[in-house]
Amino acid sequence: MALMEDVMSLCKRRGFVFPGSDIYGGLANTWDYGPYGSQLKRNILNFWWKTFIDDRDDMLGLDSAILMNPRVWEASGHVKNFADPLMDCKNCQERVRGDKILEEKLQITIAGLSNDEIFNKIMDEKIKCPKCGKLDWTQPRAFNLMFKTYQGVIEDTAEQIYLRPETAQGIFVNFKNIIDSMRVRLPFGVGQYGKSFRNEITPGNFIFRTREFEQMEIEYFVRPENAEQYFDAWVEDYKKFFADLAIPAEKLRLRYHEKDELSHYSTKTVDFEYEFPFGWGELMGIAHRGSYDLDQHIKFSGEKLQYRDPMTNEVFVPHVVEPALGLTRMFLIVLLSAYQLEKLENGEERTVMHFSPKIAPVQVAVFPLQKDLSAEATAVYKDLKKAFRAEFDESGAIGKRYRRQDEIGTPFCITFDFDSRDDASVTVRDRDSMKQERVKIEDLKEYLAGKL
Ligand code: GAP
Repeated sequence: MALMEDVMSLCKRRGFVFPGSDIYGGLANTWDYGPYGSQLKRNILNFWWKTFIDDRDDMLGLDSAILMNPRVWEASGHVKNFADPLMDCKNCQERVRGDKILEEKLQITIAGLSNDEIFNKIMDEKIKCPKCGKLDWTQPRAFNLMFKTYQGVIEDTAEQIYLRPETAQGIFVNFKNIIDSMRVRLPFGVGQYGKSFRNEITPGNFIFRTREFEQMEIEYFVRPENAEQYFDAWVEDYKKFFADLAIPAEKLRLRYHEKDELSHYSTKTVDFEYEFPFGWGELMGIAHRGSYDLDQHIKFSGEKLQYRDPMTNEVFVPHVVEPALGLTRMFLIVLLSAYQLEKLENGEERTVMHFSPKIAPVQVAVFPLQKDLSAEATAVYKDLKKAFRAEFDESGAIGKRYRRQDEIGTPFCITFDFDSRDDASVTVRDRDSMKQERVKIEDLKEYLAGKL
């Protein structure tokens, strides 16, 4: 867990992530994304949008509301099924998820067990309270994870609505609008990102599991007989996406869900798992949801959510393959994968974030060697800022300025020195190799564009 603590400390020190409501003593498990963190998160999101929406002909974007008609969540099954088995220790009031403490003890993934079965197994295995060590549990209670709120001024159950627990349903309820307004042909997909909320019983591990988080989800509509083929294609597309963002392949693995582990809507699911400092954990899921969601919304709304094949006039409800990735969880693995504490040849240490240059919050930093070179260095900086995410820094020793940029993962630092006045060139230092190269100022943009 030392890596997690080091990353958390860097996040606070360098403006990536701050504890939420910090000056009021915080609010448990809430986090605020600072200047570099919000930029990094946005860059990951932009890369996702470009890869899966802008660069493809079969994908569209959507931005649906967080607040939705509560019937949506009845239809989707969330009102009935989106619950965790909550247990309390009668001795010390510690609150746990029954399925999770059972999984930890037995080292298996359990699913499909009733609350009674979970309780009996916990008692058979004599799983004690992790806080006080007593074996004195309450019976599990189903705890629905959706946040409830009220619309309007009257706090009446008739006005009760939910904060969405996933972005996916916004896509299904807009299926008809999209079919009617856009000229789409199967297969096609709709992607959207945004906030989701879950009243998690056991949030934690920094931003791994929080109650407010962001998702980037895709619903890819296909003919039923083609679902398997597209499911496998999405697995390959996401392998490439992770490689493009410099996530080491050996830190990722695929885990196909057992039949009794599948969510209520899914006929096949695979998780991409990442090796976190606390062990392997879910990064994203790709699920074959069949026609479950559209069928449910047809039943509950009475609308015809169907597709008419323009060639054959055949009318049917498409199947859907859903790649669902958490943006904030992706942000965490980008940080964990990038972090390195390196020993230098001179015995000193440096902390470096090896972000992919595509998503680094700052792509290039410009320094004058000394303050009296500031005017010329500023001109170089201003010109680069038109094309790249650039930063100017004139304070402190040059070595310190390099260390600071290494810690925020800036791929290139440019120094304007006294020779620059004569040779119209600057020194470009590469973050990873620390090698320096002399480059003509007039060639800088082209030089950097080739590397970023
Ligand atoms: N529409 C399907 C769906 O929401 P999910 O597996 O519950 O599936 C998808 O969520 C992804 O969203 C997860 O793989 C994870 O990356 C992210 N996620 C889910 N709950 C989260 C939480 N409490 N905090 C942070 N990220 C979360």
